[in-house]
Amino acid sequence: MAAKRPAPAPFRCTECGWTTSKWAGRCGECQQWGTVVEAVAQTGVMRGFTAVVPNSERAARPITQLSTLDSPRRPTGVGEFDRVLGGGIVPGAAVLLSGEPGVGKSTLLLEVAARAARDGYRVLYVSAEESTAQVRLRAERTGALHDELYIASETDLATLIGHVDEVKPGLLIVDSVQTVSSALSEGLAGHPSQVREVAATLVRVAKERAMPVLIVGHVTKDGSIAGPRLLEHLVDVVCHFEGDRQTSLRFVRALKNRFGPTDEVGCFEMTGDGIAEVTDPSSLFLSTGTPVSGTCVAVALEGKRALPVEIQALVVPASGPNPRRVVNGVESSRVAMILAVLERRARLRLSERDVYVSTVGGVRLTEPATDLAIALAIASAATDQPVPHKVAAFGELSLTGEIRAVTQLAQRRAEATRLGYEEIVDSSILDVTNALMLLQVIARQADPEPPAAVTGRGAF
Ligand SMILES: Nc1ncnc2c1ncn2[C@@H]1O[C@H](COP(=O)(O)OP(=O)(O)OP(=O)(O)O)[C@@H](O)[C@H]1O
Ligand SMILES: [Mg+2]
Repeated sequence: MAAKRPAPAPFRCTECGWTTSKWAGRCGECQQWGTVVEAVAQTGVMRGFTAVVPNSERAARPITQLSTLDSPRRPTGVGEFDRVLGGGIVPGAAVLLSGEPGVGKSTLLLEVAARAARDGYRVLYVSAEESTAQVRLRAERTGALHDELYIASETDLATLIGHVDEVKPGLLIVDSVQTVSSALSEGLAGHPSQVREVAATLVRVAKERAMPVLIVGHVTKDGSIAGPRLLEHLVDVVCHFEGDRQTSLRFVRALKNRFGPTDEVGCFEMTGDGIAEVTDPSSLFLSTGTPVSGTCVAVALEGKRALPVEIQALVVPASGPNPRRVVNGVESSRVAMILAVLERRARLRLSERDVYVSTVGGVRLTEPATDLAIALAIASAATDQPVPHKVAAFGELSLTGEIRAVTQLAQRRAEATRLGYEEIVDSSILDVTNALMLLQVIARQADPEPPAAVTGRGAF
């Protein structure tokens, strides 16, 4: 007797597709509230279907008989953006660019649009957030005026596709997916079902016409892309545009890329004239001038790029019963751990002192590889002993005070050397004992020749 088929789940999450036999207020998979709806009402997945015989062009073939030709890429003309995309944009690719409000998404894509237009491609930039006059004003300011750059202000998906049919662009830009809506879908613009419908239609249109589409996506307060989780699955590339509001520096990272690696980072600077590429960001995060106590240079990795960053620390007597720990650009939990290691392992008394740690240029460091430089900057500030000039440090600090090796050591060393750092302190010259001694030497202010100690030239 044939086995009884399990009953299909009648409820489904609109965010992640999780299915359940009973309705639930919260999705069991993605933990979103109010996203579980009846599957029949949502997509009609319960309805039966009839198999369709594919035509010969679409028939499945053995993999060995398939063409190995890579999809030809077209550089966007913005080198730093191309770097993130893996060399350029692939025809028919759907690229989602997410970022916080005001970070510069529209400015970047208008720049991409203008460069593409100058390269001879017709571009359609559809803004669902701004009027055409606003976009024109920005284009005047950033120098993005071109006859082949078409602008439309449109929030209706069907009309947007109508614009595509009329203009026949070689590149489509939609700003943003959360502000376009379709009459075929329920809810207002930005509703998960609307965002899914708009994104799916744009992806389909892009694939059918071999026309790349760049889509702007908003992020929620917690930094994730607003809308259904499926949005990220629908598109080919997801790029995140980030930067500190206080500084003009911006980074674009690929979070997902079906056509290239995701470890590249594009570096930009927001200026009064728009957005400028920063092709060599290495010296941006270093202060100039003679070394003072409380500073040390770390070499962080931003994607494939090694980026020397100066870390500054200030240690002063506590101004109240609870010593203050104020950090900027580094993680406070990481600094707390480093302070504990310095206190316990290097016998540096910090528990009754206020500690301030900051990175130059406000760059955010999350890598444990910067621990050693943070530790040296704090130790140097606490003892008023400058870390010698031309010294860069990288290594992860363990709770035992050990300096652990970091990834991509050769790359970090090469970049530090290129920028003129003569001595590099890392786990290859510092073992457990002499790393501790190094910190102790600084702590005790006992060494009249700190360069020899710090550089590990056999001082220990
Ligand atoms: N007239 C101006 N002069 C100089 N800089 C400007 C000017 N207007 C805007 N900017 C800069 O451009 C930034 C806004 O860029 P843009 O509109 O591209 O951001 P966005 O990410 O698209 O924002 P939103 O999410 O609101 O659409 C501002 O934060 C500001 O730094
Ligand atoms: Mg915008």
